[in-house]
Order: sequence, then C-alpha cells, then structure tokens
Amino acid sequence: MTSQFQLYINGQFEDGSAQFDSINPATGQVWAKMPEARIDEVNRAVAAASQALQDSTWAGLTASQRGKLLYKLADLVEKAAPQLAQYETSDTGKIIRETSSQIAYVAEYYRYYAGIADKLEGSYLPIDKQDMQAWTIREPVGVIAAIVPWNSQLFLSAVKLGPALAAGCTVVLKASEEGPTPLLAFARLVHEAGFPTGVVNVITGFGPECGAVLSSHPDVAHVAFTGGPETARHIVRNSAENLAKVSLELGGKSPFIVFADADLQSAVNAQVAAIFAATGQSCVAGSRLLVEASIKDEFVQRLIERVQTIKIGLPEDMATEYGPLCTLGQREKIEQVVASSIQQGAKLLTGGKSLPRAGYYYPPTILDCSDVPQADCVMTELFGPVLSVVSFSSEAEAVQKANNTPYGLAAGVFTNNLNRAHRMTKAIRSGIVWLNTYRAVSPLAPFGGHGLSGHGREGGSDAVLDYTTTKTVWLRTSDQPIDDPFVMR
Ligand code: NAI
Ligand code: MG
Repeated sequence: MTSQFQLYINGQFEDGSAQFDSINPATGQVWAKMPEARIDEVNRAVAAASQALQDSTWAGLTASQRGKLLYKLADLVEKAAPQLAQYETSDTGKIIRETSSQIAYVAEYYRYYAGIADKLEGSYLPIDKQDMQAWTIREPVGVIAAIVPWNSQLFLSAVKLGPALAAGCTVVLKASEEGPTPLLAFARLVHEAGFPTGVVNVITGFGPECGAVLSSHPDVAHVAFTGGPETARHIVRNSAENLAKVSLELGGKSPFIVFADADLQSAVNAQVAAIFAATGQSCVAGSRLLVEASIKDEFVQRLIERVQTIKIGLPEDMATEYGPLCTLGQREKIEQVVASSIQQGAKLLTGGKSLPRAGYYYPPTILDCSDVPQADCVMTELFGPVLSVVSFSSEAEAVQKANNTPYGLAAGVFTNNLNRAHRMTKAIRSGIVWLNTYRAVSPLAPFGGHGLSGHGREGGSDAVLDYTTTKTVWLRTSDQPIDDPFVMR
C-alpha cells in the first residue's frame, strides 16, 4: 500500500524515512500507510523553520499581511472541512457528527487570530529620565514546536498555529502517530494559502524518534504541547537542555456537580455530553459526577435511562452518537481500571464490558463510588467513557470532593441558586468553570488548567503574547556627549 499522505518540510511534500500502518479503530484494520519522520526529517523541518524566521518573504511581511494569509487559510479549512472530517473519522474513530462540525468551526479560530495579527502593539514608556525615550516592540519568539495528541488535532493545532503565526513565528507541527491524516491533509491547505517556504512544516512520527528530537532541538524556542502528563514530564526534562519555553495542556479528572435545586433534565443531558460525547475521549471530560445525596437515586436513574438510548454505531454514519475508542491499548487500560475499581467496592450501574463487535468499542459505563471515593476510577484519568458517581451532603463537601484531585482543568456546576453558583465558581480549583452548561468552547475564551492539567492558556487574545518576546528600545536624545562612563544612566 503506498501512502497518499506525505510530510511537509520546507515547502515540499515528501515520504518519510519509513512508513507505518494507521488503523481504523472501528474495524481494527489497517486503512492507510503513514510517512514517518525521524531525526533527519525533524532536523530538516527545524532548519526550514529557522531559515524562514529570518527570510524576508516572512519576516518582511507586515502584520496585516500575515493576518491575510491566516484569513485565507481559514477559508480553505472551512471548504475542506468535510474531507478533513472524513480523514479524522477513519483514522481515530471519532464520529463524523462531531468531526464535521468541529472542523468547520476550526476556521473561526484562524479568523480570530488573523484579526489579532495587526493589533499586537508595543508601548511607549513615560520613562523617568531626562533626554531619554524608551519603547517596547513585540517580536516573534522564534521557532515553535507544536505537538498534539490524536484527538481533535485540527482544533488543538489551530490554538497553537493561529497565535504563533499571527505573532510572526514559524512552526514545526507534529501530528500524533495515532491518527495523523487530518494534519497531513491540512499541510496541503497551508501550501495552497501561500505561506512562504518553511513557515509551517507538518510531520508525524513516534515519541522517542520524532517528538523528543523536536522538543529538545536547540533551535526550538517554545514547545506548545497537548497530551498526557507522562509525555509532558519528558518534554519539561528535555527543556533543561534547550531552555525552550514550554506550555502544557494536559488531561483532567473534572467534576460535574449537581445540586438538588438544578434543572435535572438539563443536567442529565449535559452529563451525557460531558462524559459520553467523543466516547469520553476528551481532556475536559466530566468524569466525576458529584451529586447531592437527596437526589442521587433519581438523577442516576434518569441518567442511566438516557444513556441506554445512545446510538452506538459506525463512526462514519451521521446518525451515530457513540463510536469506538481510538486504540486497543486505551480499551485495555480502561478495562483494567474498571475491574480494579469494582474490586475496591465500586458498584457497576451500567456498561463495564467491551462490546462484542469488531473495533475498539467500549460501552458507556457508570460506577457508583459513593462508598469508595478513593477508588481507582475516581482518581485516575481514563480518557474514556467511564463515569464515577460520588454523593455529597453539603456545599462544603462538594467543594472538598471537587478539589480532591491533582488535576484542575474544568468543572461543571448545575444549580439554580445564583449565590451558590458564584461561591462555587470561586471555590473550585480549575481553569474553566461551566455553570449550567458543559463542553462549550470558543476562540475568544482562554482554555487550560492547573496542576497535573498543565499550565498556560490557549484561546483568547492573550494567547498571542505567549508567542512574542518583548524588545525594549532606548534612545538618548541629548546633543551633549556622554560624560561619566562609570555610572549607570
Ligand atoms: P501522548 O502524551 O501520548 O502524546 C501526545 C503527543 O506527544 C503525540 O504526538 C506523541 O507522539 C508525542 N510524544 C510522545 N512522546 C514524546 C516525547 N518523549 N517527547 C515529545 N513528544 C512526545 O497523548 P495521547 O495519548 O496521544 O493523548 C491523550 C492525552 O492528551 C490525554 O491525557 C488527554 O487528557 C490529553 N489531552 C489534553 C487536552 C487539553 O487541551 N488539555 C486536549 C486533548 C487531549
Ligand atoms: Mg488510526
């Protein structure tokens, strides 16, 4: 099988050092060959990005011209969204219903940052010295290594490339080996949009031979990473060598908190969205249901009834609401943690057994952990469709349980009590709080977490500043010669 997908390095499409199989998780079968980047390709991609950073074809553009290129890219992404969605669905098993709408919306991220490109202003400093003037200039920080996981790759790369390119940086984008096709196809759009040679390079490959080589490269200035905490630790250790800036968007164990005064119908649907949309493979998955004890039985019963109506099927079918997991390893990890949690005393309420069909299907699963709030499934990020239920009897207990995790990415709070909503928002330690909703995103809204969920914020206008460095300029306006050389000015 020859690959229709290629790496994109220095403005050229090329086959990698080797090829690897990409699997369709809905069948468990190989569906395409992928080009693999190793040390040589990584080095050439970084060299191309370093060269482009200096080259007048990019460095000489005005900020508005950079913005226009991003607008063009946005239009091309929007037009290609149906095709890109098909690729992502075949490669990762994510349902077409979600990939098609999510990728169409990715265009809005590029538009948002296109508009910001020429609004990056320095400032004039009212400096406290006679005969001196001083001002600051925002300059691109350098070559960016953008490293993404397999899920939502177009989205997770847009929140890196949008601000990086708006700021004038150049990029080596590494697609995940678990489903690189949407980004390899995206490279064709970058080319078509007319970005100068080497400004964006798109590669894929494995962690040690590709990701680690890229993140530790001496010419990389900033590693923008989304993925798991273990990989993040490798990247931070490697940054001790190149001293690159590192921003980390990692996983979570986000609480979904329901008070007795909430609109329960709405909360049931939002809880389904929080943990069973994308088959639970979402960094913001609301995987811990904290529910007020007085409504626990009713709420859980309604939830189970709703879950039983979820349409499980082939990801490419528009009617499907729930598809397979992306990898077999992922399913095995989930099976293990569910088994150990049951042994620890968690009660299985629904699901819990791999589905008897081809592909990596695992059913929506709910475990009651009210008696064992330290069970493995409550404490470990599973990145899958497993909900742990824990009850609480007071607002203080809800806060304590919500914050009882080393993660801190997102939280949902369902209540119709305005004062309580505000108190909870303040008390919860997370980067995002959704009140009476869940899983809402926008290019305008910062996104990121605390603790094991990483640091740095993607999205929003401040994200562009992460890709700039400040240059301070001093001008002495006096016509008199400089006198005493041994005192500071
Ligand atoms: P992963 O951490 O295994 O891989 C992510 C990327 O890092 C891949 O491209 C991989 O090839 C690369 N990589 C692996 N080893 C590396 C190394 N030593 N140096 C540099 N790069 C290396 O993550 P996975 O399993 O693909 O994705 C799932 C994880 O991503 C979950 O933990 C999930 O919570 C997190 N995630 C976080 C999001 C957020 O925005 N906070 C969004 C989506 C996923
Ligand atoms: Mg695949």
